[in-house]
Amino acid sequence: MKKEFNIGIVGAQFMGRVHTNAWFDVAQFYDLPFKVIMKAACDIDPASEQNFAVRLGWQSFETSWEKLIEREDIDIVDICTPNNSHMPIAVAAAKNGKHVICEKPIAMDTTEAKQMLEAAEVSGVNHMVAFNYRRIPAIALAKKMIDEGKLGKIHHFNAVYYQDWLVDPEFPWVWRHDIKLAGSGAHGDMNAHTVDLARFLVGDIESVCGEEKVFIKERKKPGTKKAGIVTADDAACFLARFENGALGNFIATRFATGKKNFLRLEIFGSKGSLIFNLERLNELEYYSRDDHSAEHGFRNILVTENEHPYINRWWPPGHTIGWEHTFIHEIGDFLTAIANNVKITPDFYDGYKCQLVLDAVMKSSKFRKWIDISN
Ligand SMILES: NC(=O)c1ccc[n+]([C@@H]2O[C@H](COP(=O)([O-])OP(=O)(O)OC[C@H]3O[C@@H](n4cnc5c(N)ncnc54)[C@H](O)[C@@H]3O)[C@@H](O)[C@H]2O)c1
Repeated sequence: MKKEFNIGIVGAQFMGRVHTNAWFDVAQFYDLPFKVIMKAACDIDPASEQNFAVRLGWQSFETSWEKLIEREDIDIVDICTPNNSHMPIAVAAAKNGKHVICEKPIAMDTTEAKQMLEAAEVSGVNHMVAFNYRRIPAIALAKKMIDEGKLGKIHHFNAVYYQDWLVDPEFPWVWRHDIKLAGSGAHGDMNAHTVDLARFLVGDIESVCGEEKVFIKERKKPGTKKAGIVTADDAACFLARFENGALGNFIATRFATGKKNFLRLEIFGSKGSLIFNLERLNELEYYSRDDHSAEHGFRNILVTENEHPYINRWWPPGHTIGWEHTFIHEIGDFLTAIANNVKITPDFYDGYKCQLVLDAVMKSSKFRKWIDISN
């Protein structure tokens, strides 16, 4: 085993900063058999050298990802760029023998996702999709409780994911509005998370019926007098049938006025129910039909006890953690898998399975009918 693992990160804005925070901190909370070196950052914007790489402690800077993935001193490539670049970077990095962690949605569509999965599997590298919500302790606890049978047979999985940053018609055109850069809008951005959580907690989805909507079709484009055309959905809703018979309801919108990043899951089973709210991510609501007392009802579990998933890495009970810590779990688990030479989930297969559902919803919206999901 190497004594040092060198990281190369591509994309130097929002997720670039979030992942940098995790690379920087991970060794404090995970006992790793090697040192993690923040070797190189890359962004097409040269200003990122000073604003990002130097400021956040990356040792070197590239403006071309092709150059970064050819560097022999890079062991792991972390992809934090817009969705249209995930596939070429991941495929090339895997072919060059780098382990790859890639932001979600894995790709623009299922075809690209499959190419990524195949390239990573052929190269034998470790691969992961950054579905960080799986690693919220309350979600990991929900998974444990479901696996233990505490909910019995699951009947319903409801997921709403609300943001409101696009309800302002003056909000400018950005890459997320362009289907050629993003693949889709709120759908691939937000439903990607909830579809992955649905697969994680309930199982695979068999068929979907959905509707996508663009509410504001043109936006001001910075640096030009021409309007930017919005081709990616502002909102996407769909119904789902799970392979195990459960029913699913999904809403993702960037027009939920007043809601900033509100994600709520409701899972109703024959023996009990669970409710999760991202705005209170240290908590999990649980109802058990086994409680026959007069005081039965939903109870609120504060997921900060040592016995709860991930918590023994952190603070004493009641000392809550935040959204950014889920990325430390993600990167810590990824590095641990590399150290132990074992696979990690969610991997590119999970990214591909999620993409199958996302693509089927888009097809359903286009053709206005239910779509069966097949491999
Ligand atoms: N896990 C999460 O919760 C979460 C949250 C937000 C975004 N994301 C995902 O992270 C990815 C990045 O989103 P973001 O919000 O950080 O975007 P962003 O616009 O904030 O940053 C993207 C950066 O990539 C750079 N870039 C673009 N093309 C490039 C290329 N070809 N080579 C090198 N650099 C390039 C841009 O200059 C920019 O600095 C997306 O896939 C998005 O869906 C995930």
